[in-house]
Amino acid sequence: MSDVSVAPVTIEHHREPLGIGEAAPRLSWVVRTELPSWRQAAHELEIAPEEGPVWASGRVVSSESVLVAWGASPLTSRERRTVRVRVWGVGAAEPSAWSDETVVEAGLLSASDWSARLVQPVLPPDREEPVLLLRREFTLDRPVVRARLYVTAHGVYDAQINGTAISDDVLAPGWTSYRHRLRYQTYDVTGLVVSGVNVVGAQLADGWYRGRLGFTGGRAYYGDRTGLFAQLEVVHPDGGRTVVTTDESWRSAPAPTTRAGLYGGETFDARREVPGWSSPGASDSGWTPVDLGTLETSTLVAPTGPPVRRTEVVPAREVFRSPSGRVLVDFGQNLVGRLRLNLPSAPAGTEITVRHAEVLEDGELGTRPLRTAAQTDVVVLDGNGPRTWEPRFTFHGFRYAEVTGWPGDLTVAALAAVVLHTDLRPTGTFTCSDDDVTRLHENVRWGMRGNFLDVPTDCPQRDERLGWTGDLQVFAPTASFLYDTAGMLRSWLADLAAEQLRDHGGIVPNFVPFLDLIPLPAQAEVGWGDAAVVVPWTLYQRFGDAGVLADQWPSMVAWIDAFEGRAGANLDFPDGGCSFGDWLDPIAPPDRPGAARAPWQCVATAYLSRSARLVAFAAAVLGYDGSRFADLAERAAERFRAEYVTPTGRVAYPSQTAYALALEFGLLPPAQREYAGQLLASQVAADGWHIGTGFLGTPLITDALTNAGAVASAYELLLQRENPSWLYPVTMGATTIWERWDSMLPDGSINPGTMTSFNHYAYGAVADWLHRSVAGLAPAAPGYQRLRIAPRPGPGITSAAATHETPYGPATVSWTLDGTTFTLELTVPPNTTAEVVLPDGSAPFDVGSGRHTFTRTVVAPEPVEKPQPFWQPED
Ligand code: BGC
Repeated sequence: MSDVSVAPVTIEHHREPLGIGEAAPRLSWVVRTELPSWRQAAHELEIAPEEGPVWASGRVVSSESVLVAWGASPLTSRERRTVRVRVWGVGAAEPSAWSDETVVEAGLLSASDWSARLVQPVLPPDREEPVLLLRREFTLDRPVVRARLYVTAHGVYDAQINGTAISDDVLAPGWTSYRHRLRYQTYDVTGLVVSGVNVVGAQLADGWYRGRLGFTGGRAYYGDRTGLFAQLEVVHPDGGRTVVTTDESWRSAPAPTTRAGLYGGETFDARREVPGWSSPGASDSGWTPVDLGTLETSTLVAPTGPPVRRTEVVPAREVFRSPSGRVLVDFGQNLVGRLRLNLPSAPAGTEITVRHAEVLEDGELGTRPLRTAAQTDVVVLDGNGPRTWEPRFTFHGFRYAEVTGWPGDLTVAALAAVVLHTDLRPTGTFTCSDDDVTRLHENVRWGMRGNFLDVPTDCPQRDERLGWTGDLQVFAPTASFLYDTAGMLRSWLADLAAEQLRDHGGIVPNFVPFLDLIPLPAQAEVGWGDAAVVVPWTLYQRFGDAGVLADQWPSMVAWIDAFEGRAGANLDFPDGGCSFGDWLDPIAPPDRPGAARAPWQCVATAYLSRSARLVAFAAAVLGYDGSRFADLAERAAERFRAEYVTPTGRVAYPSQTAYALALEFGLLPPAQREYAGQLLASQVAADGWHIGTGFLGTPLITDALTNAGAVASAYELLLQRENPSWLYPVTMGATTIWERWDSMLPDGSINPGTMTSFNHYAYGAVADWLHRSVAGLAPAAPGYQRLRIAPRPGPGITSAAATHETPYGPATVSWTLDGTTFTLELTVPPNTTAEVVLPDGSAPFDVGSGRHTFTRTVVAPEPVEKPQPFWQPED
C-alpha cells in the first residue's frame, strides 16, 4: 500500500539511540499518508538482534503508535538491535511497507560493566581555573570492527582519539545532580581507532563540578579535584575485545588554556600549545602521573535527552566605536554561546581580550547586570600566522562584544557568534500579521535556546544560571511546543526528585541541581516547588508519556505533602514568612522583586488547589486512588473563596493575578465565575491595558480573559506597546524576553535593580496562549492524540499560523480574517482527530486526519471601548 508509509521508529525520547539506558525502550512511529481520516488498526514490530532470531510482534490490533511497549527480550549492555514497523489502516487489508530500520544500542546498563578508574590530574597550583590535558597511548594488534568510548568526568571534558575530536558535543557530561546522577556519554569511535599505536586523550576543565557557581562567589560545590572516567571498548573481527580504561598509566599536563570558568570565560595562550598531544608519537615524558580517585558507579546514568551542541553560527553585524573609543561588535541578537575568532597574523605575545554583554548603556558595554560574571575571554597569539579560535569550556550571554588588543582593524568577517544549547529537535512555529508579536515569539524562542543549556535555567549570563524551578514551571508548556523537551526534562525531573526526596525531606529545592548558596528557609516554595507536579503533567499532556508520571509519582506526592504541611490546618499559610509569590509584578520596585499586588498567601492557596488537582488527575492516569488529592484540591479552593473572594465573585486583592488564578485554576463556581471574569476585564482596563502580573500570573492572564469571553481585552493586553507590556521590550529593540517588564527603562538606561537580566524566559509563557488561542492549535488529549483547533481571532490581528510536530506527525493551523470572512486551513496528523471550534459561534465538530479548509462569515472583532479620560489638561 504505497499511499501509506511509516517514518523510522524512534526510541524513547532519544534523537540518537546510541548508548541508551533503557533495556526495554518504548517505541514510537509517525505514519505518513494523504489519505483522509486515516486511523491505525494494527501494527507489526520487528526487533532484530545482530545474530539470531528476529523477534516479531505479529499483527497487533491497536491504534497506539506513541511510546509503545518494547515487547522483545530486554537489551543487554552494549547490545545492538534493529527495529522496524509496519501498519494497517482501518479497513485496509494490506499493511504498509516496512519502515526503514532504526538501530538502537544499549549503553552500559549495570555498574559492574565499568572497569575504568577515576583519574585525577594533579592541578597546577598557579592556576585557579585550570584546564588539563590527559592522555594514554595503547597498541592494538588486530583490526577494529567496532569501537565505543564510554566516558564521563568530574568537570567537563572534550575527548580526542589520535588527534581527532570524538564528537561535536559541548560541555559534556553536562550538569546533573552529580551526587545522585552523573551522566556518561557513549560515542562511536570505530573510525578513529586503528590497528597499531593509538592515543586516547581529553581536555578537562572545572565546569559545574569544581567551578564557580551561583551568586555568592563559591566554587567546588561537588569536589575540589576534577577527574576523567573513560572506557574504550574495541571489538575485533574474531569477536575478541580490547578494553582501555582510565587508570594509573594515564599522564597529564597543563593545557594551553590557562583559565576556564563558566562565568568568567577563558584564557588561551597559543604559545603553550602541545603539538600532537592526543596523537601517537608525541612524547609525554615530561607529563605528570595521575592520581586515582573514586567515582560511585551506581550514580552513572545514560542520557535521556540530546547533548549541548553548536546549533548556529551568527555573523557579526557591525563593528563600531563606542563614545569612549572602544571597539564594539553587534551580533544583532542576544544569544548564548561564544565567539569564533579568525585571528590575524601578529607577533607572539599579542593579547586580545573580548568582553561580552547583552546590552549597551550610554553606548558602552552594559556589564552591570552580569554582576560578578566577567564573561571575558583572552587569547594570546604565538606568532605562527592566522588561526581560528573558539573557547571550549565556557559560554556567555551576549549580543555585544568589546574587543581590545586586536592587531589592525577589526572587521565583521573576523568574528562570528557560535550559538550553544541542548540540541533539542525544533517542533513548533508561530507567526501572525502583527510583526511585533511575531518578533515577540522569536524572542521567546531565543530565550528558550539561551536557557536550555543542559539545565533549564533562569538566565544565561550573570552569576546565576541556575535551574530555578518556578521559571520552568511557568514556561514548560511553551517550551514543549517549541522543542521536543521530553528527554531533557525527564533528566531534570529525575534530579529534582532525587534531591527533593533524598536531601530535602520532600521539599522541592528552589533550583535544581541544588547548591547550598544562601541559608534560604527550608520551606515549600509556592509556585516554584509546584514544578514537581506541573512539569511532569505538562510532559504527559504534550508528549503522551505516562511513564513520566509513574516515575515522578513519589516526588509529586511528596511535594503535595510538603505544601499542605506549610499551608497549615486551614490551608491559609498562617505562619507568615515569605515566598517569592508573583515574583516581579510590574509594581515591584527595583530592590523588592517580590512585592506584588496579590499577596503570596493568596497565590499559595490557589496553587495548592491546582497542584493537588493535577496529582488527582495523575492518579487517575496511573490507576491509583487520588481521592485525597481531589479532596485537598476542593478544600483549598473553598479556603481560597472564603479568604479571598466575596460571594459575588470579587477578589479581595483586586489584581490581574488574583483573578487569573481564581478563574484558570477552577477555584470558583459558575455563579462567581461570570462576574469575576467581568471584573478581571475591568481590572485590566483600570490598569490601562498594561500587564499587571509577575511570574505566576503571566501564563494565566490572557487565557483567563479569553475564557471569560473578554477576547478583545486579551488582545489589547497583547498588543499594548507602552511599558509594562510584552511588546514594550520589542519596541526597545529586545531580541529575547527580559527578566523584568522594564529591564531597560524607556530612556534606554538599565533598570537599577540587581535582578535585571535581558534573557529570562518566564514572561515568555504567553507564547503558549499564542499557540493555543491566537493560532488555535492545542492538545485535547495527551500527546495530541486528539487536537483542539479553536482559534480566537481578536482585534488587531488579521492572520495567524502555527505548526507543531506532534508525536503523530505535523499539525498546522493557519487562518486569515478579511473583513468578516474567516478562513481556516489545517492539517491534522494521521491517526488523530481534531475538534474544530470556529469563531462564528457554530457548534464544534470533529475532523479526521488530512488537510481541511473552512470559510465562515464572522462578526468582525471590535476593539475594547476605551472611555475618554474624564479630565484632560488644557493645551
Ligand atoms: C532568578 C529567578 C528565580 C528567582 C527566585 C532569581 O534570582 O533569576 O528567575 O526564579 O531568583 O525568586
